[in-house]
Amino acid sequence: RDLATTATGAPQHTRRDFMMIATGAVGAVGVGALAWPFVASLAPDAQTVAAGAPVEVDLAPISPGQIVKVFWRGKLIFVRNRTEEEIKAAQDVNLASLPDPQPDSARVKEGHPNILVVYGNCTHLGCVPLGNEGPFHGWFCPCHGSVFDTSGRVRGGPAPINLPVPPYTFVSDTKIRIGEESNAAPKAAHA
Ligand code: FES
Repeated sequence: RDLATTATGAPQHTRRDFMMIATGAVGAVGVGALAWPFVASLAPDAQTVAAGAPVEVDLAPISPGQIVKVFWRGKLIFVRNRTEEEIKAAQDVNLASLPDPQPDSARVKEGHPNILVVYGNCTHLGCVPLGNEGPFHGWFCPCHGSVFDTSGRVRGGPAPINLPVPPYTFVSDTKIRIGEESNAAPKAAHA
């Protein structure tokens, strides 16, 4: 490409180079913005979030039965507002029958049994499972058929462990902060 030369003979970027670099930078920002369509509430700027800052999620718009996708540290996370039926299904389980036994109470925060927060990649090979699918109406992984219940626990297929629960805390009844652990952390959750 064209390079101008300075009096010392050193190459110097031409105006056209500058224009190309500037255009590329704008494109990169555009792609970055498109990658965040699911974040319900994003207090810090995208650069801070990429560095691992906590992400606040407003729960008010998430209706019972709905699953929202957010990103924290570049990882996909599901925030699920469980219905009474889904909570009951998650609690009425013989733990001895689970490949990765964890009581539902260890996967949610005390006083907020309806809100389930789990990482959004299958623990087999990382595909994104489909919500409200499969025999347990939790998630179904279309890649190799792993099924998860409404607590995000594996109930069948090749996935070896449950969908892990990321660190998060309730900052109010209708807002959580992902990336910051509360004192009442789930005891047996996989970090
Ligand atoms: Fe989900 Fe294989 S990646 S079952």
